[in-house]
Amino acid sequence: MKKMMTLVFMLACAAPTAALAAGPSLPLDRANIDMSDTASLQRGAEHFFQYCIGCHSIQFKRYNRMGRDLGLTDDQLREQFIHTRDPSGDQTGVGELIKIAMKPDDAEEWFGQPAPDLSLTARLRGTDWIYTTLRSFYLDDSRPMGVNNAIFEAMSMPHVLWELQGWQANVGEDGNIKLEQVAEGKLTTEEYDEVVRDITNFLAYVADPVKMERHELGKWVLLFLAFFTFLAYLLKREYWRDVH
Ligand code: HEC
Repeated sequence: MKKMMTLVFMLACAAPTAALAAGPSLPLDRANIDMSDTASLQRGAEHFFQYCIGCHSIQFKRYNRMGRDLGLTDDQLREQFIHTRDPSGDQTGVGELIKIAMKPDDAEEWFGQPAPDLSLTARLRGTDWIYTTLRSFYLDDSRPMGVNNAIFEAMSMPHVLWELQGWQANVGEDGNIKLEQVAEGKLTTEEYDEVVRDITNFLAYVADPVKMERHELGKWVLLFLAFFTFLAYLLKREYWRDVH
């Protein structure tokens, strides 16, 4: 009976995970990002503003806050990153939120879905998920745009990085998914993985900018504690001097 109960309990715990993993899919690869690597974050931001900002906003973030965190000047932001204009026709200011020019209605008409804001995606989906999804597009004639995704089945996002990665096809049998490169892109697999890792790193930063500050703050807290311990030690020595 007890064994039976344990089994029921274990099945109940496993059920939600099993439901999430439904459908043919691939295991997630490790993103191995490093948020303290500013060069990687800068590269990720460059790729994001080149390939993704056309459809996805990150509207909880301001340009100049990103600039400050990533070591980019206001001039760099204006030249390389700000592609939108405000209603008066001037370039959007560096203190503004990072939105997109496309209207949600248009996106829905073109892709059947609005492209979601990506401010919190790294937290909701996880960085391994983003990293693996962006590397798992494959050719599929049954889809409206001829592309499917091994992690996000029937995803309505086109493979915007195809020029870099080239194309993969699904050569798995019996409903299984196995991806194989069928057309070369501009980059080798390793180079493409690196680009995706940088974009994932950038989205992790976007979703949790405070983490960088927390790490920075941690050093000062430790220093303070060390200093305080030293003071306490001096004080103790002072008190006990007359006792001995
Ligand atoms: C042409 C428009 C377009 C571009 C450009 C684009 N996406 Fe998308 N993206 C979409 C659409 C539409 C969806 C919604 C897919 C769905 O729900 O089926 C989406 C979904 C996503 C998701 C999943 C979000 C979620 O939680 O469901 C991620 C992550 C993502 N895109 C990342 C990117 C990145 C990174 C880039 C740049 C390399 C990019 N996208 C470029 C249209 C685009």
